[in-house]
Amino acid sequence: MVISSAPGKCILFGEHAVVYGQPAVAVAIDARIHITLEKSESGWLIDGMQFDKQRHPHLDAMLKRMWTGDGGQPLSIRVESELFGAAGLGSSAAICSAVAAGLLHIRGTPADELPLSGIATTAHIAEAEAQGGRASPIDTSTSTLGGAVLVSDKKESQAHWKYTRDLRIDGQRRTWEVHSVDLPESLTEASLVIGFSGRPGPTAQMVAKVANLLANHPERMEEIERIGNVTRAGTTALSLGNLQAVGIAMNECHRLLQGLGVSDADLDRMVDAALPSSLGAKLTGAGGGGCMIALTTEPRRTAEAIELAGGRTMVSQLGAPGVRIENE
Ligand code: PMV
Repeated sequence: MVISSAPGKCILFGEHAVVYGQPAVAVAIDARIHITLEKSESGWLIDGMQFDKQRHPHLDAMLKRMWTGDGGQPLSIRVESELFGAAGLGSSAAICSAVAAGLLHIRGTPADELPLSGIATTAHIAEAEAQGGRASPIDTSTSTLGGAVLVSDKKESQAHWKYTRDLRIDGQRRTWEVHSVDLPESLTEASLVIGFSGRPGPTAQMVAKVANLLANHPERMEEIERIGNVTRAGTTALSLGNLQAVGIAMNECHRLLQGLGVSDADLDRMVDAALPSSLGAKLTGAGGGGCMIALTTEPRRTAEAIELAGGRTMVSQLGAPGVRIENE
């Protein structure tokens, strides 16, 4: 039996702008997916029931890539999640990453020799396949590498370049440069409080909304570029452990995202409730539902304020460990 795990993520800076080639930064959070894999004598099982490929497209896409041919014998798979579901916290990417690590370990790869860029690549391809061909590598890379990850169309000087990912989307090849961002000790003085609106963030719809806005008002691409610049400044602040400046960059991101029309009343209410006790607060991910985040040195006070504003909360440090094997 192998138990593997991988963290969820939230986007600290750069959502939506990343679709237009600007950088975005995500951090791994202290809520994980745990996957248990065991060889099964009773056929393919998931959580004790017959495995249905249609209901588990991400698992199916991973198994097709990594568990075929000789030795591809049936498995019993258990999936346990500490993440809010359908909240934009990267649970499907964490599943892909944890399954990849678990399958490699069953086949003999030692826990301390997991090939992280290979896992991130396979997880990204499988996630895209399960989602009809579209996925940026930010979720799968953050879940696999842990810490903080910057993704951009080009190599960025604020972070350490790790690898290039590419994918054919709608007949066109897209390329992303994936980096890791230093997270100094001093960042542990602050926590992230994640507030879930209770409604899924409709990613495709919100991306289309921004695309329409830019098609009708090409001059507003300037706001996308401003998000990119705030992201670069925020990344430098993060790697220097300058919490105040990270908070300011988060606030600025939220203001620009509001301007693009991707926030909503629930997210704004939670952000406003968090601000008096926070260094910064913003929506995270696609918007239109999903989650907001607040950076704070008073996580209990901030979480209470967000809950009073109608959110469900979770507290995390910035940058949890990436994919790993749990049972050595
Ligand atoms: O809510 P999430 O984690 O799916 O984030 C979406 C981020 C966007 O920038 C809006 C879209 C994308 O593909 O990067």
